[in-house]
Amino acid sequence: MGDIFRIMGGARLSGRAVIPAAKNAVLPIMAAAVMTGDCVTLHGCPALDDVGNMAKILEELGCETRAAAGRLTIDGKNARRHEMPDLLSKRLRSSIFMMGPLITRFGRATVTYPGGCEIGLRPIDLHLKGLRRLGVDIREEHGRIYCDGRHRHAGDVLLDFPSVGATENLMMAAVLTKGETIIRNAAREPEIVDLQGFINAMGGRVSGAGSSIVRIRGVDSLHGAAYPPIADRITAGTLLTAAAMTGGEIALDGFSGDSMDAVLAKLREAGCLIDERGDGLTLSAPGRLRAVDVFTQPYPGFPTDMQAQMMALCCVAEGTSIIVENVFESRFSHAAQLVRMGADITVHHRTAVVRGGRLTGARVTARDLRAGAALVLAALAADGMTEVENISLIDRGYERLEETLTALGARIRRV
Ligand code: EPZ
Repeated sequence: MGDIFRIMGGARLSGRAVIPAAKNAVLPIMAAAVMTGDCVTLHGCPALDDVGNMAKILEELGCETRAAAGRLTIDGKNARRHEMPDLLSKRLRSSIFMMGPLITRFGRATVTYPGGCEIGLRPIDLHLKGLRRLGVDIREEHGRIYCDGRHRHAGDVLLDFPSVGATENLMMAAVLTKGETIIRNAAREPEIVDLQGFINAMGGRVSGAGSSIVRIRGVDSLHGAAYPPIADRITAGTLLTAAAMTGGEIALDGFSGDSMDAVLAKLREAGCLIDERGDGLTLSAPGRLRAVDVFTQPYPGFPTDMQAQMMALCCVAEGTSIIVENVFESRFSHAAQLVRMGADITVHHRTAVVRGGRLTGARVTARDLRAGAALVLAALAADGMTEVENISLIDRGYERLEETLTALGARIRRV
């Protein structure tokens, strides 16, 4: 199959969708599974490239994994290695939160310094500073990081920034450490709460996730568990935005909007009617969207992973929008591509000014996962045909996006 989506704009999206488990919950939970020698089963897992790459990493460490019909089984019985495979680690940046689980399982971890990517340098200084605070000896040389946690101890760590990955790494590094470890200024994302739930299902004793203070009381051992990770709030937000931009309506069955108040508030501000029922959530788009201002922040603020999609919405809204990306230092790669489609966008450092108007189809290129999603949304609302290249980046975080959108009435093909 090719690496291009061909999209004919103009179709109103309407219908129902079911949201799969969250990529950003499943990945850290898969990492955590290596902490036990027992079998772990995750339900409702999407078949994403990032999930597949994480499974390959676990297999390189000696785990056995099996994926069938959304059920992912990980058996860590034969895990032997504490050195992460270079190539796979480079391909999957988020593999950096394998440090904590490997230190917990083997006492040591060797990981590759992750490369930067399109949305920024992606440093890991907060991860390393926190681990050192917990008595992990860390040596960095030749692009590799050698962690020796055999003399680690409980501690009180304050994060300079509520980093999602650093919070997750430190939670997992402390699970079997005697005493109580505290993480202050912890990230509060729902995926952190889900990781806490999974660790506790394995016999861990973590509390406070979702707040700024997470407490981990060390236990003697962990056991296997079966666990259903939470639904993907970013996939949900992406589909809601697609319906909003095409004047359509959509029902997300069995999905609760609790994890995405900031996104729902913005879509309502743009004129959408959103109804949160007990068994799901529906959105009806207005005749014309109103411009909105977006300031990304750590949770519960507006999520950076929805910034690109909202920029696409602002391109077809009535009025001028200000978008400020406060979380990553360069996450506007989609702006230049949207301009190719006729958007009026001015970017200055972390601020973009978008003057709403009409979009026309063009050949554009995805530079990162969410930028790619934004270009698909723009193409759905554009006049004429758009070709989005580099869609393997989109496959990292959306499972067969073209099938989901086709079921809602979109005219999209993978070529
Ligand atoms: C997680 O990345 C997500 N990935 C990202 O989703 C998401 O955008 C991000 O959290 C913020 O919500 C996964 O969960 C797999 P951070 P992570 O550490 O952990 C800086 C997507 O599209 N920082 O919270 O890497 C960092 O440079 C992806 O699904 C340091 O300076 O995010 C960034 O500016 C993209 N030093 C900010 O903090 C550190 O040691 C937020 O990063 C760590 C981070």
